[in-house]
Amino acid sequence: MRKPLISGNWKMNHNHFEAIQTVQKLAYLVGKDELEAADVSIHPPFTDIRSVQTVIDSDKLGYALGAQHCHYEEKGAFTGEVSPVFLQKLGVQYVICGHSERREIFGETDEIVNKKVAAIQAHGMTPIFCCGETLEEREAGDTETKVLGQIRAGLEGRTPEQVAALVIAYEPIWAIGTGRTATSDDAQQVCAAVRACVAEGWGNDAAQAVRIQYGGSVKGSNIAELIAMPDIDGALVGGASLDADEFARICKLGV
Ligand code: 13P
Repeated sequence: MRKPLISGNWKMNHNHFEAIQTVQKLAYLVGKDELEAADVSIHPPFTDIRSVQTVIDSDKLGYALGAQHCHYEEKGAFTGEVSPVFLQKLGVQYVICGHSERREIFGETDEIVNKKVAAIQAHGMTPIFCCGETLEEREAGDTETKVLGQIRAGLEGRTPEQVAALVIAYEPIWAIGTGRTATSDDAQQVCAAVRACVAEGWGNDAAQAVRIQYGGSVKGSNIAELIAMPDIDGALVGGASLDADEFARICKLGV
């Protein structure tokens, strides 16, 4: 049974004071018992990670610490980059990689994302591997070509066990931050194709184990419908994760 994973990607929002307040407020709203239904990870900006880690550890909250990005090298002359070793030392469990904003704004290629997946797993953390199509690609009927192509290239060289252990986030780019959510049927269709692609490339056991999230304008009001779909095992949440009340509702799967 795949336990849902709800991940809050704060992107470049919340300074470390705001981060502490948000997590403390969330802790009032979503206690340990409520985490029976879903795992929850929080992905603040790098400058907040230590502060959020301290709150999670000292109050023994059940949330997993996440990061939004990292470099694939362990150390060296990479001004401005952050090593997976540093994240692991901070207790980070999940690292987002290949987000469409990193791909489109910062030029991350499938090849770079592939190296990141390997580096994140080599340091004992779980990649949240993102894929998704643009509106033009969807309208041209190229959704699966784009998404499955990203998966084959990004995960090439991974063993079935490694693929089984990761999280894939399907995020249609046209649904990110736009208020337009893919219908649950559309999202399910692509997530089912993702699982079939994993089965074809890495075997049925990996396909049954891998967790597939949907991302793109997820809210408290639409999570229940999305999570009810057989191939959607959670959500990668942007805007709605910044507000503790709204994110709490999502963590409780809309109930
Ligand atoms: P929104 O939930 O704001 O649409 O963002 C989705 C996303 O990109 C999460 O990584």
